[in-house]
Amino acid sequence: MKNLFLILLSAAFLIASCNSEKKPEKEKIVIGSKKKTTSPEYELGKELFKGKGNCYSCHRMDKKSVGPSVAEIMKIYKEQNGDIVGFLRQKKDPIVDPENYAVMKTNFARLEKFTDEELKAIALYMNEVTVK
Ligand code: HEC
Repeated sequence: MKNLFLILLSAAFLIASCNSEKKPEKEKIVIGSKKKTTSPEYELGKELFKGKGNCYSCHRMDKKSVGPSVAEIMKIYKEQNGDIVGFLRQKKDPIVDPENYAVMKTNFARLEKFTDEELKAIALYMNEVTVK
């Protein structure tokens, strides 16, 4: 009886330790903290957002520049269950700042060359950055 209890206990322990190994991928990012998630998709999104995508030249993380901050965009997208990839593919109308949509529109021709995976990575990056 005692042995069975020990086996069950170690099984439970094993399951628990397996779960905790998977955790780092789901960790949240807080603006201003040094804690960062690293998943390949997140890294790709970050690289595209700041590099080839050129998004960072108009979108800062936490303050408005030419365009609204990523924090503001994601707040509204979460509230309204928005679809970033759909927006970037011009399938969804602007919901953050429609008056300045013309400025954002200048990106769409360039974004046509991006794959769905690349756009999804950008959306994931924007989403993770602002979760508090
Ligand atoms: C030339 C400046 C500029 C660049 C570069 C730019 N944006 Fe924007 N973006 C804007 C402006 C201005 C708005 C506000 C107008 C609007 O809401 O459509 C905006 C709005 C947005 C929105 C919110 C749209 C909505 O629902 O209203 C998203 C999402 C977005 N940009 C993503 C991106 C991504 C991703 C990139 C890089 C691929 C990018 N932007 C590059 C200027 C820019």
